[in-house]
This record gives sequence, structure tokens and C-alpha cells, in this order.
Amino acid sequence: MLMNKSNNIRNIAIIGLGQIGLYLYNELKLKKKEIEIKTGKKINIVAISAKNKTKKRRFKIDKKIFYSNPLNIFSEKKVDILFECIGQSDGVSKKIVEKALKNKVNVITPNKALIAKHGDTLAKLAEKNNVNLEFEASVAGGIPILRTIKEGLATNKIKKVYGILNGTTNYILTEMENTSETFDRVLQKAQKLGYAEPGNPKLDLNGFDAFAKIRILSALSFNTKISKANCLMEGIENIKLEDIKIANQLGLRVKLLGISEIINGQLFETVHPCLVSKNTYIGNVNGVMNAVITEGKPVGESVLQGEGAGPGPTSSSLLSDLLSILRGNIKYPFGISSSKRRSIKAFNNDDYTNSLYLRFEVKDKQGVLSLITNRLAKYKISVKRIIQTPDKKNKKATIVIITHRTTEINARNCLTIFKKNKNVLKFPTLIRLYN
Ligand SMILES: NC(=O)c1ccc[n+]([C@@H]2O[C@H](COP(=O)([O-])OP(=O)(O)OC[C@H]3O[C@@H](n4cnc5c(N)ncnc54)[C@H](OP(=O)(O)O)[C@@H]3O)[C@@H](O)[C@H]2O)c1
Repeated sequence: MLMNKSNNIRNIAIIGLGQIGLYLYNELKLKKKEIEIKTGKKINIVAISAKNKTKKRRFKIDKKIFYSNPLNIFSEKKVDILFECIGQSDGVSKKIVEKALKNKVNVITPNKALIAKHGDTLAKLAEKNNVNLEFEASVAGGIPILRTIKEGLATNKIKKVYGILNGTTNYILTEMENTSETFDRVLQKAQKLGYAEPGNPKLDLNGFDAFAKIRILSALSFNTKISKANCLMEGIENIKLEDIKIANQLGLRVKLLGISEIINGQLFETVHPCLVSKNTYIGNVNGVMNAVITEGKPVGESVLQGEGAGPGPTSSSLLSDLLSILRGNIKYPFGISSSKRRSIKAFNNDDYTNSLYLRFEVKDKQGVLSLITNRLAKYKISVKRIIQTPDKKNKKATIVIITHRTTEINARNCLTIFKKNKNVLKFPTLIRLYN
């Protein structure tokens, strides 16, 4: 680490003063003394940067150290540790992090999009320049899951890591169950409360946000390169209140799970809605809460639960990274040297096997149920349970079928026929049962 010559002062730059960066800026000022007591180092914020200098912000900023172009900071200021809090997967976020690492500046970021996409090259760059690249806040906000995997569970052989990694979707699913309000209505509420982005909540809802986190968790858990393989990713946009109500009657809950595991020596990563039993631990992680479960040897199952987003929890993780750097030692960003991290073959998504919940909206006519069950039988998908609810007034019926386990490819091939059957009013909703 480049150090301030004369004393124990470490110079800090914060790039991005939005929800996270601005809160962090304030926290660093408030906790200066505490940080000094805990690490023996004084911190000094020497540069801050955002897009708009005159924007009205929640906390007052020191405009004398403000940079409109963060790339100019290095030629004018000596920086020891840089926080990147802009949030792009490429663009200025990538440029500033690369420039910092090349200038032997330690980097801390909550930016999962950047790490999931460029984590491997950035880690190499950090190692080459003998500085730290820390990203605890990029996965599950305030939950210290990355450090737990890198340090607390360091000698365990982890074979699976999974959990609820997106607070927005968990809030929406919980609220739909608790209030019987529709997806759209609850999404509006989530936006009002600041749980979902007002403009474009798509990346939370379609599973992409959770997926970026799963990719980072896999790399750390299995000592592998970040996978680039195509994956099974589904969000919660197609979950209807009806599904949540039916699940409820069956003692189940819908949860958006991120799952990463090694199956037959191959890496399987996925994010999709799951039906989980109300009696399970994961079935009771509600609201904006996140939870990550690891299965390792010899430790067994470990669970970490907490708030997965928001300035407070995120900044708690950012500060934990800061204290780790201030206390010393250069650590490998992904726990082991980049040269030792291997690429791993991806498990074929078609072979993923689950019991299925299938909801059909059909014309209330004789023969429709047997049409469906015959089709399932043709593909050797055996039925565990059928619930049929007629809607006489509209001459419709809802048929819910819970199947025994079958593969993705088999289910997909089986269901194609229902795309164009006049008695099946909509393509059936499919939700996988977890375990
Ligand atoms: N929000 C959360 O709860 C949360 C939780 C965990 C992780 N994260 C991660 O934290 C990061 C930041 O998220 P956020 O919610 O704080 O985002 P945000 O509120 O949108 O803030 C982005 C900041 O970046 C600044 N910015 C944009 N372009 C810039 C440029 N070219 N140069 C300098 N600054 C620029 C913006 O400036 P202006 O203010 O002037 O527009 C703004 O201050 C993301 O990676 C996100 O995934 C967020």
C-alpha cells in the first residue's frame, strides 16, 4: 500500500455520492475516531466525486475536494484507498477501478455488476500491483458472507451455497402473501418505500441482480473463475397472486432463490422462483431480509441472515472492508491467488431436476384434464397432486398439478404443446419446488 510518508494517515477517495456513497461519506466522518481506535490509522477524505456538483444532497459535501471527473484525482491527490460507488458494470466504474489498482491504490466497491463481469481481471490487476480489492458489500448488503467464506470457512470444502439474495423481490412476495394485493400494486409500494428503483426495477425483478451475486459467491466458494456460462435465470415478474394463494393452501411459499452448487464436478448456477415449505428456515425469511446458506465439510450447514440492501447495511460492509485494509496485509480478492483459481465446466441446465408446480388456465370442458394428464404421462412426468377449481361463471377452470421430479428439458418439451391448444387459455405457469 502506498502510505502517507510521515504518519499513520490514510487518504480516502469516494467516487459516487448516491444512496451508498453519500451515506458512506457521512459515516466515515462520524466514525473517524472509532476507526483510529480500532486500527491505529487516521483516515482523511481527500477527494469525492459524483456526476453533478450542484445537486442537492442529504448530507453536506465539501465542494473543495469535489471532482466532476474522478479519473483526474490521481494526478492531483495522493490516495491510499478508493471507494467506487457509481455502480456501472463497465464505463467509468471499470475505468476508475483499473486506474486505481494500476496506481497501487486499494479499492473497495459494493458494485456486484462490475465484479460479476470483470472480477477476474480486476483481481489479477490488484494482485499484480500488490493492493487489495474488496467487495463485501456487493453480495447481500450488510451480511458478512464473503469474508465468512474467505476467512471463517477457509478450510472447508463448500459444495453448495444458496439463499435469498434480493430484498426487493422478497419484500414483494411477502407483501403479496400478507396483503393479497397484486404484483403491480405491491411493486408500486416497494418503489414508494425505496425498496425498488423508481425508474427501472427490472434488474431486481428479472433475477439479474441475484444472479450477479450468485456468480461472485460461486467463485469464492469453489475457488473457481467467475463463470460465463449460460444459466437458468428467471425472475418473479410472472408470479401471480393466485400462485401465492394456492401455494399458501399447500403449506408452501414462493421465494426467489439463487443457487450455486457443484454437481458431478460441474458448476450449476441458477436464480428462479421456488416453492419452499413454510416449515423450512428459508421459507421464513421474509420482507426485505436476505439469507445465505452454505453447505461445507466439515462445518455442515451455516446460515447468515440480515438486511441485504440500503445505505446502512451496505455501508457496514464497506467499513468492514476498510478496517480490514487498514489493519494491514494484502489479501487475494477471491481468497486464493488468481493463478490457482480454475475454470470449471458448467452443468447442463437441461438436466436440472425438480418437482414442478404447474398452473393451467383452461376452458371448463370435459376432457381437458385428461388432455393435460395424458400429455404429462407421455413424458413420464408423474402426478403427485391435482387441484381443480372451476369458475362456472366464466366457463373456465384452474388446474394446478404438482408433479414428481423431472428434468428441465423433459418439462419444456412436454409443455410446448400447450402454446397452441385452444382449450388451454394461457401457457401454463411453472414454479419449481425446492427440495
Ligand atoms: N442502494 C443499495 O441499497 C445498494 C446495496 C448494495 C450495493 N449497492 C451498490 O452500490 C453501488 C451504488 O449504488 P447507489 O444505490 O448508491 O447508486 P446511485 O444512488 O444511483 O448513485 C450513483 C452515484 O454515481 C454518481 N455517478 C454517476 N456517473 C458518474 C460519473 N461519471 N462520475 C462520477 N460519479 C458518477 C452519481 O452522481 P450524481 O449523484 O451526481 O447523479 C451518483 O452519486 C451500486 O454498485 C449498487 O449495486 C447498492
